[in-house]
Amino acid sequence: MAMDRARRHPMSAAARSSAFLTLWSAVVVALAPTVSAAGFSCRGGARAVVFNFGDSNSDTGGMAAAMGWRIRPPEGRAFFHHPTGRFCDGRLTIDFLCESLNISYLSPYLKALGSDYSNGANFAIAGSATLPRDVLFSLHIQVQQFLFFRDRSLELISQGLPGPVDAEGFRNALYMIDIGQNDVNALLSYLSYDQVVARFPPILAEIKDAIQTLYDNGSRNFWVHGTGALGCLPQKLSIPRKNDSDLDSNGCLKTYNRAAVAFNTALGSLCDQLSVQMKDATIVYTDLFPLKYDLIANRTKYGFDKPLMTCCGYGGPPYNYNITISCQSKNASVCDDGSKFVSWDGVHLTEAANAIVAKGILSSDYSRPKIKFDQFCKV
Ligand SMILES: *[C@@H]1O[C@H](CO)[C@@H](O)[C@H](O)[C@H]1NC(C)=O
Ligand SMILES: *[C@@H]1O[C@H](CO)[C@@H](O)[C@H](O)[C@H]1NC(C)=O
Ligand SMILES: *[C@@H]1O[C@H](CO)[C@@H](O)[C@H](O)[C@H]1NC(C)=O
Ligand SMILES: *[C@@H]1O[C@H](CO)[C@@H](O)[C@H](O)[C@H]1NC(C)=O
Ligand SMILES: *[C@@H]1O[C@H](CO)[C@@H](O)[C@H](O)[C@H]1NC(C)=O
Ligand SMILES: *[C@@H]1O[C@H](CO)[C@@H](O)[C@H](O)[C@H]1NC(C)=O
Repeated sequence: MAMDRARRHPMSAAARSSAFLTLWSAVVVALAPTVSAAGFSCRGGARAVVFNFGDSNSDTGGMAAAMGWRIRPPEGRAFFHHPTGRFCDGRLTIDFLCESLNISYLSPYLKALGSDYSNGANFAIAGSATLPRDVLFSLHIQVQQFLFFRDRSLELISQGLPGPVDAEGFRNALYMIDIGQNDVNALLSYLSYDQVVARFPPILAEIKDAIQTLYDNGSRNFWVHGTGALGCLPQKLSIPRKNDSDLDSNGCLKTYNRAAVAFNTALGSLCDQLSVQMKDATIVYTDLFPLKYDLIANRTKYGFDKPLMTCCGYGGPPYNYNITISCQSKNASVCDDGSKFVSWDGVHLTEAANAIVAKGILSSDYSRPKIKFDQFCKV
């Protein structure tokens, strides 16, 4: 869910590579991990266990449960046929990843009824960012919730009661992190490119702290997603601009995309660095930027008619997005066929787009080390 409270301030189109970026590029080369990681493993016959941390890109209903939101149709219409709390017409990328492991969709940690945590839990909450650190539902809070969940599960088992996941399950589980979009977008709403990039280190420090805390508590398998093509989101494109000089050949905002790429470069370097430090851990970094940009750049290949326009929104072409009249508004208009759209509501992708992103993740072409997600804990 969008977290842009601030109106956009015009930003400098001039963006030179900063000393910061140069520094991080040097780290990439120096610390690129050897692809000798053993990969993920489960007990013989055991099913995969996944714990996920993030924002609305992977929120399977947590925010709706936490806030008691009555999400209305057309959310969920393409697959679940009713709203589930996902901000999408159907499945999210993480749902497709769960399908590839033959496990049920992850239940939100905060969903009291109907949840099944035997295959893990989803701590992702719409609107979440890494900073500020101590607000609901920052990455730090999500990790604390996980530790609470783990302690309760192990406590139940120690009392001879059924806990959803045992110690071995926690050790062998896959820990996924997909966060940063709200941090980067919030900064871009009022700072220039150079100023935004200069503020990445504290964001990355939070992601590092999350991985370190999980590692210190026995987690060994990590899968970290970079952020997407922020400059191609109707939400950003609909912000009034003086002229189109910041648009690229696909109609996306260059400054936003450059910031997303810079963030991902730094995040990938962080993962490389942690892989070196945590020798007995597997840390896979997957860059979602090229995958999500490809949806726009190669739109005809995928059958997307209007890649920069929302399926569900308000205002009509070119973007059909109005921040005050969201997809949830009674006055929003909704397209007939979401599979022809990349953007569901201006911020979130359609199920059709998510399916392609998931396929790209499963290809491992965008990951390093190139471990196959679908080799993880096959039943
Ligand atoms: C998927 O899991 C179900 C149990 O939930 C099992 O019956 C089925 O055989 C599994 N499919 C594959 C392809 O492993
Ligand atoms: C879990 O991590 C926290 C924070 O790093 C640490 O204080 C705590 O001791 C760890 N618990 C275990 C069991 O390692
Ligand atoms: C377009 O706007 C940017 C600032 O937003 C400005 O630097 C640039 O000169 C403008 N270009 C034209 C052709 O007006
Ligand atoms: C478009 O698709 C082609 C073929 O799959 C690929 O080589 C190319 O990198 C894609 N373009 C972009 C911008 O992702
Ligand atoms: C959003 O829609 C309202 C109602 O039609 C309109 O007054 C407003 O100008 C629109 N906002 C933008 C940014 O187009
Ligand atoms: C929504 O539509 C109704 C009826 O068409 C209209 O009265 C109302 O002002 C609209 N609301 C907004 C926010 O545009």
